[in-house]
Amino acid sequence: RMTVPKIRARKGDPEAEPLVMLTAYTMRQAQLLDAHCDMLLVGDSLGNVIYGLDSTVPVTIEMMINHGAAVVRGSWHAQVTVDMPFGSYEESKEVAFRNASRILKETGASAVKLEGGEAMAETIHFLNARGIPVIGHVGLTPQAINLLGSYRARGRDEAEAAKVLADARAVAEAGAFALVIEGVMEEIADEITESVDIPTIGIGASAKCDGQVLVTEDMLGLFERVPRFVKRYHDLAGEMSDAVERYAAEVRSRSFPTDEQTYRPKG
Ligand code: KIV
Ligand code: NA
Repeated sequence: RMTVPKIRARKGDPEAEPLVMLTAYTMRQAQLLDAHCDMLLVGDSLGNVIYGLDSTVPVTIEMMINHGAAVVRGSWHAQVTVDMPFGSYEESKEVAFRNASRILKETGASAVKLEGGEAMAETIHFLNARGIPVIGHVGLTPQAINLLGSYRARGRDEAEAAKVLADARAVAEAGAFALVIEGVMEEIADEITESVDIPTIGIGASAKCDGQVLVTEDMLGLFERVPRFVKRYHDLAGEMSDAVERYAAEVRSRSFPTDEQTYRPKG
């Protein structure tokens, strides 16, 4: 399986290809993505995508553990990281360790991701020094929606740009092995990628990041409304409705099931 040191070592290797990361929440999804991805992220975006919540704030550690374990069971090649949900790490580095260790023990994932910059540096250092690899997440941090007020891109003015850059540097210096940069102006993402010594993984950031991540359901076209940074590679919603429409019509016209799908005594 892809390891944390191998991912970390992609930085500064001029031959290295960009890291490929996608979210996964279920066993079957993980099986289908695994061969193509370096990293799978069990994102707390599952709150929106799977549970229909309107933010990631209500996501619980039990949700993350249940889906994390399923994704580890469905993968064998990609490195698996599980998001720490809101409320499970901010209070203190000790609380963060207790919850992060529980996530690793109960899922089999090899790393956790948490949102925040300078305010989380001490926690990241504490976890890393005690055997828990951490991915940082700066820029647009959805768990802070109640403070931010909207999901618009960050770093539009000087002060915001300086804050995102300082956050990124703090996370890298604290010992994170990779950094997700979400929803920032391209030039800020480029400045971060040039100035930190760990791989940056962009989402709504820049093509020059050391890797890219998207929410799988978004790139597969399962949702009507997606952020500007999503490229849709398929129309899965359309294909699903077509299949379900055909099934419903066949049930109603009694053309399903047929002999092929029916048990009968032999002879
Ligand atoms: O929860 C998530 O899916 C994420 C990615 C968008 C980076 O944090
Ligand atoms: Na997340």
